[in-house]
Amino acid sequence: QKNCYILGIESSCDDTAAAVINNGSILSNVVATQEIHEQYGGVVPELASRAHQQNIVPVVHQALHKANIDKNQLSAIAFTRGPGLMGSLLVGTSFSKSLALGLGIPLIDVDHLQAHILAHFIKTDGKEMPNFPFLAMTISGGHTQIVKVSDYFKMEVIGQTIDDAVGEAFDKSAKILGLPYPGGPLVDKYAQKGNPKAFKFPKPKVGPMDFSFSGLKTSVLYFVEKETRKNPDFISENIEDICASLQFTIVSYLMDKLKNAVKETGIKEIAIGGGVSANSGIRKALQEAEAKYGWKTHIPDFEFCTDNAAMIAIVGELKYKDQNFAESNVMASARMKF
Ligand code: KG4
Ligand code: ZN
Repeated sequence: QKNCYILGIESSCDDTAAAVINNGSILSNVVATQEIHEQYGGVVPELASRAHQQNIVPVVHQALHKANIDKNQLSAIAFTRGPGLMGSLLVGTSFSKSLALGLGIPLIDVDHLQAHILAHFIKTDGKEMPNFPFLAMTISGGHTQIVKVSDYFKMEVIGQTIDDAVGEAFDKSAKILGLPYPGGPLVDKYAQKGNPKAFKFPKPKVGPMDFSFSGLKTSVLYFVEKETRKNPDFISENIEDICASLQFTIVSYLMDKLKNAVKETGIKEIAIGGGVSANSGIRKALQEAEAKYGWKTHIPDFEFCTDNAAMIAIVGELKYKDQNFAESNVMASARMKF
C-alpha cells in the first residue's frame, strides 16, 4: 500500500512523540523530551501529563510538516494504549481518538512493549531485520524483559524483572553517586575510562531468565556510605572505577540472562531495544557474543531505541494491513499483557 500514511502517537511516560510512516519507511520522527523532570531526579507523573497536554498538538504538527504531508492524507492513527503512566496515556489516547474521529479514519491501539520489539521492522539502511523466531530483550527505564517472538503478534514473555527496571538501576545508582538524572548515559561515559574489576557488586539471584535490580542499588548505597566514612572524597576520586564496575555487573547480568534464554529456547537470534540499548557495554558484549557463541544480534538506531513514535507507527502499519482496528470505546491501560 504505497499511499498508506500512518501517524503514530506515543505518550506513555515523559516523551511526547509523533511520527509518520509510509510503506515501512519513517518520514518523520519527532520527540519532545520533558526536561522538567530533571530537577526532581525522576519522572513526576502529574507534571508529565501536563507537559503532554501542552506538547501534543505542536509535536503532531511538526511530524506532519516534516513528513511533508497534509493531515487529510492520513490513512489511520496509531497510539500507545499502554503500559505506562495513566495520566500520560490518557492525553495520547484522547487526542488520537478525537483526531481519528475528526478525520473519519481508523484508530489503531498499540502495546508499547510490542512496539519496542517491532521497531526492528522499520526499514533502515544497512540493517537486516530479525528472522522469526527471535529473542527480544527490552531494556529501558521502565521495562526489563525477554520475549520469545514467533511472529509479529505472537510474543511470549519468558523473563522479566521482579522489581526495578535496568534503566532505574543505572539511574538510581547514579543518583547515589551524585550524578544528575537520568544518570545512565553518564555512568556509561565514566565507565569507559575505569577498571570494571575494581569493585565487586552482587548479582541478585532470581529465576534463570528473570531480573532483580533493587538489591544492586542498595549495595551501591552501602558500599559508597562505608567508603565515604573512611574517605570523604571517595566518590570523586573513584568515579570512573565505580561506574565501570557497576556497568560491568549490570551488563554481565543481562548477558547471563540472555545466555539462559538461548539455552532454554535454542534460539540464537537476538534483538535488543529500549534506552539502555545505547549502553556501550551491552553493545560490545553482544558483538563479542556473535563471534563467541554464533549469535546473530540486532540493535536498532538510537532514535528507535528510546521512547519514540516511529515504533508505534510501524505497529500501526502492520495492524492496518490486517484491518486490525481499535473499537471507538477503547481505553488507555496502565498495565497490559500480551
Ligand atoms: O527507553 P527510554 O528512553 O525510556 C523508557 O521507556 O524508560 O530509556 C531511558 C533509560 C534511562 O534509564 C537512561 O538512563 C537509560 O535508558 N540509558 C542508558 C544509556 N542511555 C540511556 N543507560 C545506560 N547506558 C546508556 N548509555
Ligand atoms: Zn519504552
